[in-house]
Amino acid sequence: MAKIFVARALPGDAIERLRDAGHEVTVHGGSMPPTREELLAGVADADGLLSLLTDRVDGELLDSAPQLKAVANFAVGCDNIDLAAAAERGIPVGVAAHVLTDATADLTMALLLASARNLPEGERDAREGRWKTWEPEGWLGRELRGAKLLIVGRGRIGQAVADRAEPFGMQISFAGRDDDLHAALAEADIVSIHCPLNEQTHHLIDAAALAAMKPDALLINTTRGGVVDQAALIEALHAGTIGSAALDVTDPEPPAADDPIYSAPNCLIVPHIGSATATTRAAMGNCAADNLLAALAGEPMPTPAPAPPSA
Ligand code: DGY
Repeated sequence: MAKIFVARALPGDAIERLRDAGHEVTVHGGSMPPTREELLAGVADADGLLSLLTDRVDGELLDSAPQLKAVANFAVGCDNIDLAAAAERGIPVGVAAHVLTDATADLTMALLLASARNLPEGERDAREGRWKTWEPEGWLGRELRGAKLLIVGRGRIGQAVADRAEPFGMQISFAGRDDDLHAALAEADIVSIHCPLNEQTHHLIDAAALAAMKPDALLINTTRGGVVDQAALIEALHAGTIGSAALDVTDPEPPAADDPIYSAPNCLIVPHIGSATATTRAAMGNCAADNLLAALAGEPMPTPAPAPPSA
């Protein structure tokens, strides 16, 4: 029997599965993440940690959990976890890989379509009395057929977005680590970011990258806010350096009520809901449970986190 600390209540039957396997599971209650103190107290005698992307798992935390044998993240991203610190201490880390590809790609398309066809503005105008008649020149959006979609990142989610965009008649290209990003950005009508956040991709889309884009380009971000230099994005939207942005993720999350991102023009913002379907969230829980159960049984995790850069 192992002690497992779960950092938030989860949908699906992941917690039940951990208990059914005979483990003692403590779940942090409430809708907000544990405070740092609560997290440190929660892991103090834990053998396993089921963390969320809102929980910072670093050397300090790992050192305050002398019995910890496994960390399973309820996310495919793992920028909240110091992978090198975990590797140094021999603690395996698992991620919820594979299971949220479709949900995130669907949300990307929803953002793309909503931004391209001005849905937020149209919805506001309809409700707030600005829909006076059928307007030949009103609410004109962007045609998708023939539009050039650049996908930044060569992983599964980017590919799933390409699979969805292709039937719309979009011209799709990819930019990976070894490609000339600025040259690719200069060609694109729509840019969708699908690379993980790490030291190499932090502020990958900075002022210079934004300046390389077309003045009417749409930038979509469903990965992590930190991949985009948000101050530079706000400036670019005000200056018209790019046309619009659609963000599922911001930096920080959530932005403060008076964060300038909320007053940037043509910027659609939703609250990090890429994986937010009941089916996907349940699958993410199962993935985390599978990783914990395997590691606590001394077996390899089915979906481990990528190796830290120095490993
Ligand atoms: C992830 O899993 O990394 C997403 O951002 C949240 O589902």
